Amino acid sequence: MSTPLHFNAFVMNTTSHIQHGQWRRPDAQQTAFNDVRTWIELAQLLEAAKFDAMFFADVSGLYGDADADYDVYLREGLQIPSNDPTVLLSALAVHTEHLGLATTSNVVQAHPFTFARQMSTLDHVSGGRIAWNVVTGMQENGARNFGLPRLTDHAERYRWAEEYVDVTYKLWEGSWDEDALLQDRERGVHADPGGVHKIHHRGERYAVEGPHLPSPSPQRTPLLFQAGSSASGRAFAARHAEAVFIASPSPALAAQQIAQTRALAQQAGREPGDLKFFQGLSFVVGATEEEARAKAAEHDRWVSVDGYLAHSAVLDRTGRAYPPQTPLSQVDTNGARGFAEWLSRHITDREPVVADLAAQRATSQRVVGTPEQIADQLEVWRAAGVDGVNVVNWVIPGSFAEFADQVLPELRRRGLAQAEYREGPLRQKLFGSPRLNERHPAARYRGAFGPRARRTAGPGAERTAGPTTEPTAGVGTGVSG
Ligand SMILES: Cc1cc2nc3c(=O)[nH]c(=O)nc-3n(C[C@H](O)[C@H](O)[C@H](O)COP(=O)(O)O)c2cc1C
Repeated sequence: MSTPLHFNAFVMNTTSHIQHGQWRRPDAQQTAFNDVRTWIELAQLLEAAKFDAMFFADVSGLYGDADADYDVYLREGLQIPSNDPTVLLSALAVHTEHLGLATTSNVVQAHPFTFARQMSTLDHVSGGRIAWNVVTGMQENGARNFGLPRLTDHAERYRWAEEYVDVTYKLWEGSWDEDALLQDRERGVHADPGGVHKIHHRGERYAVEGPHLPSPSPQRTPLLFQAGSSASGRAFAARHAEAVFIASPSPALAAQQIAQTRALAQQAGREPGDLKFFQGLSFVVGATEEEARAKAAEHDRWVSVDGYLAHSAVLDRTGRAYPPQTPLSQVDTNGARGFAEWLSRHITDREPVVADLAAQRATSQRVVGTPEQIADQLEVWRAAGVDGVNVVNWVIPGSFAEFADQVLPELRRRGLAQAEYREGPLRQKLFGSPRLNERHPAARYRGAFGPRARRTAGPGAERTAGPTTEPTAGVGTGVSG
């Protein structure tokens, strides 16, 4: 009996997230994205079906050429309008008990001091069920929304992310000692002054004095997801991620990506089991294979090619979109790189082109069949090293209700899906302990700022914990130009 796969519901607080065109179907309720009940009822459906988490994607701007017209995004409802998932998660937290709640936030869209506080607050509100999908942001328009002239260079974005997480780790793991929050009414001491520390972070982009304002939450550091499959993305995941979200074109390529990232994690002093890999997959289930194929054809009837092409637009170094028939081998983009890299390894019988990215998004990673056939395919992904699936929907709530009612029972029968939740915070459910393990880079900040640290490091030590260069002025640095 194999260990259960983990299942997350991959959603976004918008009408058209990934499967563009499906919002026009009569059974599509994702158009009611502004109504909090849409998401509360979905969260309760997912919890009843013992999903591990509800995973919210998010962006900070429009896709595509930021100087071109953006009509297609509005016509398609393609991630605009969209609401802020960090706000929505608090409502979902009070209407659920075990369901993990993951939000995506890139390094440009919030200052790390503010973001760290939001995550700690949500972790308190949810009793330790918050996860963060760490992304660098890949949109020109998204960068311009925060005062940047253009999207920061790809490698530089990951360097930015390194400092960003460093600040958050210091706040979450190092600023408050375990037992600092006393609330001793007798002695009139609310917190132990010796147990709450300033972090005095001074880095290339950020200067953050601290202390962290929230007291430690159940997980302190939210469970860390990461989505980015380029070489820089894999290296970042190997150092920081607990769960990696992949969109591999095939189990064979997923196995390669997983093996590479786990090997990099070992080089970074971690263990292969410290990372779990979640493959993005959509499902079309039928009582018979014919019925499932007919339903898949029905989905295809609603597919918006314009939507997929617009979502998969690839920009050149000047921010201009490559024409769809441009060979991927000629693409040199500062945006998302991993998708094209892996697709070029997948399509070997001809020269893959930009439009293939849209086709890949629309067709591959789609599992069609009876519950038994779907379970068979999931066994194949599992054998490739995948630990979980981010379930991509066609319609809300229908796709998740169908998966829960028809597929999960078969998976449970095979021991491939959990029938009950484990107790405790999200990280405890997935890894057996609520806190990051000692091998994770964030752990090095435990006790790093306290008197004990000062005592061991001698006078003035507190001022030098972490990089000491003057922060550069600009986005979210808190140090205005
Ligand atoms: C399955 C998956 C989900 C993603 N979700 C988001 C998201 O919600 N917001 C976002 O800005 N980027 C998202 N990304 C994009 C990644 O953050 C990243 O920009 C992209 O994978 C390119 O990274 P790379 O150049 O390192 O490959 C996602 C990527 C994958 C693979």
